[in-house]
Amino acid sequence: MKLAAFLGSPRSGGNTDTLAVRVLESAKASSVETEIVALRSLTIKPCNGCERCWGNDRPCIFTDDMTVLYELIARADVLLFATPVWWYGPSTLMKAFLDRFVPFNMPQGRPLIKGKDAVLVTAYEEEGPEAAEPLIRMFELSFRYLGMRFIDRLVVDGTGPKGAVPANSRALERAAEIGRAIARRSGAVHAQAEAREPERAAEDPQ
Ligand SMILES: Cc1cc2nc3c(=O)[nH]c(=O)nc-3n(C[C@H](O)[C@H](O)[C@H](O)COP(=O)(O)O)c2cc1C
Repeated sequence: MKLAAFLGSPRSGGNTDTLAVRVLESAKASSVETEIVALRSLTIKPCNGCERCWGNDRPCIFTDDMTVLYELIARADVLLFATPVWWYGPSTLMKAFLDRFVPFNMPQGRPLIKGKDAVLVTAYEEEGPEAAEPLIRMFELSFRYLGMRFIDRLVVDGTGPKGAVPANSRALERAAEIGRAIARRSGAVHAQAEAREPERAAEDPQ
């Protein structure tokens, strides 16, 4: 079980970073393999809509840091998307990253994303749920379109300044619980796989 988290805030150590890191720490403490990617440190060119995905057996015509991320995404079982709410949508970094998922919409790419679990982590300044609704809906529809399972979300309102989340023990505990839930799911997946093994052995007596 591998959990890959993508940090979409340009603010290092900010609110969504803090929440995502807490999810990962908690999952890792329960033996989940984790990898964290700060999109702000990478070069991800904007999708140009050329529709030449998978030409020459490459997912994308661009050679940039997405080349490695396509492989990481394909290897991961759970993808965590962490982004602040920016104008009721995702950050620019997160949107550029998502736009580059078009190769996963092509026949060659579909099997590399379909069935993966997805988690959304977001924080924003306004009070109440309304400000996050368009963002959540965008992810919901995108995950559904790609055949992913939207297994959990952490949505923290009232967090404007950089230190707001570290002072929010409830949000941090919820982040830790999401990490533990991911670990429990991985345990369940292993148990199911083991339970199927005897059936396979009976079908194939070699
Ligand atoms: C460009 C920009 C747009 C923003 N738009 C919103 C918004 O529409 N609604 C809101 O509640 N907060 C908005 N915020 C505030 C951030 O969501 C908030 O500060 C968040 O905690 C930042 O998370 P971070 O520390 O992970 O970057 C915006 C901030 C910026 C810089």
